[in-house]
Amino acid sequence: MKFFIDTANLDQIREANDLGILDGVTTNPSLMAKEGIKGTENQHAHYIKICEIVRGDVSAEVISTDYAGMMKEATELTALHPNIVVKLPCTEDGIKGVRTLADKGVKTNCTLIFSLGQAHLAAKAGATYVSPFIGRLDDISSDGVGLVKKIVEVFNYYGFETEVLAASIRSTQHIIQCMEAGADVATCPLAAIKGLLKHPLTDAGLAIFLADYRKVNNES
Ligand code: E4P
Repeated sequence: MKFFIDTANLDQIREANDLGILDGVTTNPSLMAKEGIKGTENQHAHYIKICEIVRGDVSAEVISTDYAGMMKEATELTALHPNIVVKLPCTEDGIKGVRTLADKGVKTNCTLIFSLGQAHLAAKAGATYVSPFIGRLDDISSDGVGLVKKIVEVFNYYGFETEVLAASIRSTQHIIQCMEAGADVATCPLAAIKGLLKHPLTDAGLAIFLADYRKVNNES
């Protein structure tokens, strides 16, 4: 499974990248706002900074809701860096946009996906990625991971090339469940990725190894 980091925070992106496991980044307008990035020029400059840290796809989301506006933004965003993936919402205009961009060979991430039907249409339109939102479904007592599993099964059945990018991940356990569901990508907060490394037996085992080493090497 590929690991993307779900943030616009440059320090966290650097930290995840330095781990050597990072395959890409996803951002959204809320994540950009959280970093205090205001205005199109600053946002564009920020996307370039992200692309310079990570060797992999970087999703930059349009804020237009109409097709023409989305296409204008897509042109501007893709001019910033070859690794920019245009992120569009799963709406009528968004799906049309995905199709137009796919026909031009531009990578897209169709976002805000909450049903199998939405994912299926996005894949038919030629999306590079579909982003089902696990956490937000769980928040309303729905089964977020169950949706990821269903999308993976159906995409395999029809032979779609679109990658299933599990989004809105809130915990390390969500990441494990995405692996089990066969997601192609999980976009995660840094803390959830680092949680994968934690195991008490690793800590205890390491302490014993070091104590034994110190004993024979006469170190206190
Ligand atoms: C990423 O592509 C999504 O925008 C993001 O994962 C949404 O996460 P949230 O539901 O925690 O805001």
